[in-house]
Amino acid sequence: MKTVKTITEVREQVRQWRKEGLTVGFVPTMGYLHEGHASLIDNSKRDNDRTVISVFVNPMQFAPTEDLESYPRDIEHDKALAESHGCDMIFNPEPEEMYSENFSSFVDMTVLTENLCGISRPIHFRGVCTVVNKLFNIVKPDKAYFGKKDAQQLAVIRHMVNDLNMDIEVIGCPIVRENDGLAKSSRNTYLNGEERQSALILSQALEFGKALIKSGEKNTAEIISAIENKIKTQPLARIDYVKIVDSETMQDIATLDRNALCAIAVYIGRTRLIDNFFTEDIL
Ligand code: PAF
Repeated sequence: MKTVKTITEVREQVRQWRKEGLTVGFVPTMGYLHEGHASLIDNSKRDNDRTVISVFVNPMQFAPTEDLESYPRDIEHDKALAESHGCDMIFNPEPEEMYSENFSSFVDMTVLTENLCGISRPIHFRGVCTVVNKLFNIVKPDKAYFGKKDAQQLAVIRHMVNDLNMDIEVIGCPIVRENDGLAKSSRNTYLNGEERQSALILSQALEFGKALIKSGEKNTAEIISAIENKIKTQPLARIDYVKIVDSETMQDIATLDRNALCAIAVYIGRTRLIDNFFTEDIL
């Protein structure tokens, strides 16, 4: 497995693979890889001849009040995990390689980015769309893999690829969980012992919501309120949002009459965690 730091090196390698008639899968990440990322690499390996991952903590998607500086980083661990899953190349650029001093072009999106995480993180998706667009232009993959844990991000990327006619297939992969149900996330590392235990309330509250839906409840206000009440039983938890939205447009819906996403964001202490389910995956 190669680790490269420059755009030129990525392009040279991918050009070589293309000459050999090989297909390329791509897994964009911010590093501190865990089994969730490993499953994206596994999916890419299954579908493509070569797999590239990027490890880049993208400053543009963090607000000044957020955790850019403290975001966990461990490139040696990332290399070992990626290699053990058969990754062919890691692109690990410095910020200056990605953003020149006079950088001034952005990819922005309305509607889908204005709900859910877009409310408390208003600049986040502009940063995500811009960097993913750049990474797609650098790697030029056939297929790109994103986790369903960041469900709004997945919908936003799919929408961007469609709007901007990018010739890339976007593949959403299932959430990977710890044995006790907590969704894997690089940010779980921020939790102390007591918070780690309290964080189980996210998956437990979602299970509660799923059971209600399976029993036939279609009124989203009822389901949301049941999930909120469950989360409020946990003293360390503070709700950012609990929402049920159309799974493509990310707009709130009143009745479960189409494929929907039930998404939550909850602070456990100072750590903001997200989790979700798609109704099409449970019904
Ligand atoms: O999901 C992430 O890790 C990031 O948002 C992404 C897609 C790598 C863009 O920086």
